[in-house]
Amino acid sequence: MSKISINSVEKNIKGLWNHEPYVKKYKNAKYTNKNPELSHMLNRLKTVNKLLKQNLNKDTNILELGFGAGQSSSLFLKEGYKYTGMDISKSLVNFAKSENKKFIKNRLASFYVGSMDKKLKFKSKQFDAVVIIGALQYVMNLNGCMKEIKRVLKKEGILILAQSNSFAIMDIIDPRKFIRFLIRVFFREEFMYSYSTTLKSIILENSGLKKFLGVKGNEKWLNTNLFTGGDYIPWNFKGKRRILAYDRIKKILKRHNFQIISYDYGGVFFYRKKNLYLNILFQIMNVFLNGLHKLKIFNFILNRIGSSNIFVLEKN
Ligand SMILES: C[S@@+](CC[C@H](N)C(=O)[O-])C[C@H]1O[C@@H](n2cnc3c(N)ncnc32)[C@H](O)[C@@H]1O
Repeated sequence: MSKISINSVEKNIKGLWNHEPYVKKYKNAKYTNKNPELSHMLNRLKTVNKLLKQNLNKDTNILELGFGAGQSSSLFLKEGYKYTGMDISKSLVNFAKSENKKFIKNRLASFYVGSMDKKLKFKSKQFDAVVIIGALQYVMNLNGCMKEIKRVLKKEGILILAQSNSFAIMDIIDPRKFIRFLIRVFFREEFMYSYSTTLKSIILENSGLKKFLGVKGNEKWLNTNLFTGGDYIPWNFKGKRRILAYDRIKKILKRHNFQIISYDYGGVFFYRKKNLYLNILFQIMNVFLNGLHKLKIFNFILNRIGSSNIFVLEKN
C-alpha cells in the first residue's frame, strides 16, 4: 500500500462517518441480544460499564472519544456520571445531542465534534476517566492522541480502552482468514484496507508481502480464480484501519507509559450468528472456552483470541 498522510486518512474517515446511509445504520443499531450480530458489542459495553463502576465514584467526569451513536453515553449517564463525548462525526454528535436534551439541559452531558488526531479542546486534568470503545483503529497520530489523553486526565484518572480484537478466533478460523492472519503477523502489518479475503487482496494490501514478492498489482496470475476466489469486500471510503490485537495494544500502551490495572477479554469468543445451528455450536464453544479461561492456565492463548481487548489503565 502506498503511504497516505494523516490528514487525508482523517478526511476520509470524517467523510465515512458523515456519510448518511452509513451512519444511519449505526444510529439504528441497538446493542441487544436480540440483534445477534451486535451482541458482542453489548457484552463489550457492559464490561466497560462494570469496570467503570469498579474504578470510579458516581458523579465523576468521563470523557468518551469516538462515542458513535450514543449507545454508551445513555448507559453512562443513567449510571450517574457526568459525561462529555467527542466524535469526528457531526452527524453523530447532532444525533447524540437530540437524544440527550434533558441531560444537556441539566449540565450533565455535553457533546463535541473533534478528532483524536488533533489537540483536544479540553482543559488539562479535567477528567476522572477517558473511555475509548472501538475507535482507536481510526487514529493515525497515536503519539499525539496518547499524549492528549494523559494531559486531560486527572493525576489518579484512568483510561479504559476497549477494542475489538483483530486476531479474534472468529477472524482466523476460516482458511483464507487464517492465511491473512499469518501474513499480517509475519510481516507486522499495521493497517487493514478492507475485509476482503481473496488472496489477491491479501497480497496487495500487505506492503511487506508485496515487496517480498515484487508484485505490482497488474500481474495476470493475480486475476486467476485461485487469487480472486473468496470474499472481495472493499470499503466505501479510501482509508485504513489500524490492526489492533492483544500484544499490539499492550506495546502501544507500554510505549506511552500507561500502566495496566486490569484486563478483560469481553467474555465472548464466538459472536452470535443468525443461523440457529451455528449459533448453538458457537454458544457451546463460548461456554467451554469461558470455563477454560477461569482455570487461568490457558489465559495466555485465550486472552489473545477473545472478541475484545479491554484494558483499564493508569498514567505513569
Ligand atoms: C466503530 S464506531 C464505535 C462507536 C462507539 N464507540 C461504539 O462502540 O459503538 C467508531 C467511532 O469513532 C469515530 N471516529 C473515527 N475516527 C475518529 C477520530 N479521529 N476522532 C474522533 N472520533 C473518531 C467515528 O465517527 C465513530 O463514531
